[in-house]
Amino acid sequence: MRPAAAGLRNTARHHQSDGTRDISASPAVWRAVQRRPASHVSLKRSGRDPSAQRVTRSNSHDAVARVRGVIPALNLTHGAQMPQIGLGTWPMSDDEAESAVVAGVEAGYRLFDTAYAYGNEEGVGRGLRACGLPREELFVATKLNGQWHGYLEAQQAWSDSARRLGVEYIDLFMIHWPLPAQDRYVEAFRGLGRLLEDGKVRAIGGSNFKPAHLQRVIEETGLVPDINQIELNPHTIREAARAYHADNGIVTQSWAPIGHGRELLREPAIVEIARAHERTPAQIVLRWHIELGCAVIPKTSRPERLAENIAIFDFTLEPDEVAAISALDRGEAHADDSDVIGH
Ligand SMILES: NC(=O)c1ccc[n+]([C@@H]2O[C@H](COP(=O)([O-])OP(=O)(O)OC[C@H]3O[C@@H](n4cnc5c(N)ncnc54)[C@H](OP(=O)(O)O)[C@@H]3O)[C@@H](O)[C@H]2O)c1
Repeated sequence: MRPAAAGLRNTARHHQSDGTRDISASPAVWRAVQRRPASHVSLKRSGRDPSAQRVTRSNSHDAVARVRGVIPALNLTHGAQMPQIGLGTWPMSDDEAESAVVAGVEAGYRLFDTAYAYGNEEGVGRGLRACGLPREELFVATKLNGQWHGYLEAQQAWSDSARRLGVEYIDLFMIHWPLPAQDRYVEAFRGLGRLLEDGKVRAIGGSNFKPAHLQRVIEETGLVPDINQIELNPHTIREAARAYHADNGIVTQSWAPIGHGRELLREPAIVEIARAHERTPAQIVLRWHIELGCAVIPKTSRPERLAENIAIFDFTLEPDEVAAISALDRGEAHADDSDVIGH
């Protein structure tokens, strides 16, 4: 079991836009970064630091050698560092998730996003064990469902998820939806706080929380969530939510970051910028998230897309390009309304 996390009542730190750090996929670098307290980590702007360390070792885990550029990590409020890109696993089956995790590690991914609701935590866990990397070089994120909103219920949800994943600790444990009609998410957060104290999780988060939900959590528990995972892409840019997160030191992690790979990737503005950079539309959209300081968890199980989606740290977008992509916003109403839906 990991030692108990310190500073549960951490005041918010502003690290999202400038708190990225080169972690690369080098086991040595990743371990060293994880051991270092967040307050001692020097901050670097992602992808733009010419001194950013590149991996040159050539062992079997040196997948980053094939990833152009480096993978930054974001400093989280409770002291963990989280890779800025991870692999989404919904709607993979157990078997698909197992192979995707192994292929993902090979391609350079270190963060894997799952949930009780995806029904594939066992497959993700099998992939983590099969990938050949030690546990501490991997970052596992999962989420509890509405039936576990509550202090004791959250402890139970952790035990069940940890058993299915086959891990002793979970790097990031999130509440999947706030379900305000049930009005139990604040108690569930208290439960996540206990898991932090016990060293069973390294970071805690909301998912699909609106600023009003997060504000209640902070005011009533004194806990600042490390992250909030929300639906976010150029069709749904969530400006108010991102501003609230930044003001409170909460990392924004985007789900459906490439809009499920559908019409968003055919937007003329995105296609034109992709041509100018000789990149794919998916890479341009994912880089747009990075420019905004967000973390991303694109899903794919195709090897060529695993490589494509992570190769976004060796180029940048100009401010006018970021603005042109942000102008595709269709407004808050385009996102799922978490006051109404969820599970
Ligand atoms: N917190 C929540 O409530 C919530 C909700 C939904 C999702 N999530 C998480 O967020 C992750 C990502 O969201 P998402 O899967 O809904 O959407 P997404 O990542 O935006 O899109 C995934 C889709 O795009 C395709 N795709 C992937 N890379 C591509 C590329 N380079 N070019 C073209 N198409 C590409 C994939 O197809 P192939 O697989 O065939 O490549 C898949 O159909 C999920 O896997 C899950 O882990 C969280």
